[in-house]
Amino acid sequence: MLHRAIGIFDSGVGGLTVCKEIIRQLPGENLIYLGDTARVPYGTKSAQTVERYALEAAGFLVEQGVKLLVVACNTASAVALPALRERYQLPVIGVIEPGARRAVHSLNRRIGVIGTEGTINSGRYEEAIRTLLPDAEVFSAACPLFVPLAEEGWADHEVARLASLEYLQPLIAAQIDTLVLGCTHYPLLRNTLQQVLGPSVLLVDSAEETARCVAELFRAQGLERPEHGGQRDFYVTDVPTRFELVGRPFLGGELAKVAQVAID
Ligand code: DGL
Repeated sequence: MLHRAIGIFDSGVGGLTVCKEIIRQLPGENLIYLGDTARVPYGTKSAQTVERYALEAAGFLVEQGVKLLVVACNTASAVALPALRERYQLPVIGVIEPGARRAVHSLNRRIGVIGTEGTINSGRYEEAIRTLLPDAEVFSAACPLFVPLAEEGWADHEVARLASLEYLQPLIAAQIDTLVLGCTHYPLLRNTLQQVLGPSVLLVDSAEETARCVAELFRAQGLERPEHGGQRDFYVTDVPTRFELVGRPFLGGELAKVAQVAID
């Protein structure tokens, strides 16, 4: 059981930010990552469609015998967790709960959340934050341009700064002291976002919090693989070329052994 891999899926390259954090916090774990690159993006699609895609992606990982499923995609975490937990008999961890758990440390209880249209429209971050901190005020904004900017390698470009200023204006006006980066791609924009918001606003990285949550669960249940240097296998649903290239800064390293699979 210990040596079984952790299964991680996302719509594409973005979930590699979650993968990177899991590798950092749990270096001995074997990982199997699936990027549904043939059907990316999930963020602009309906909840029903994303749920169907998520069930298929998870089905592939469950067939590989993984011990735990991490839904790295915020949009899929927002709309598909109940269906995934109902269908598959293994622990399923999404990115929303862990992000919300960190966000409620806010001192003024005015919390911003940014994500894809699907994530923001679902209201799931707001719900998770209010469950933990009922009198929190949550200010949300969809930031659809951040995904292509991050994939273009323009996270620190002037265009990203201007887009951030535009998207974050209402959140700055609301005097948030905490901002949840509720999308796999946003950790790449961390410097730009911090610059626009100022140093006093805490940025919550859902990827980092999710990896912490997995590590805590493993330690509590004795599921951690003690060795160092786990094996990492990457799968995609379209040809791997673009994933290998664009994914490097998301993972923070070379992408080896990427294979194409059909999951639908
Ligand atoms: N991975 C998605 C998320 O975190 C962003 C990319 C997409 O829209 O598919 O919501």
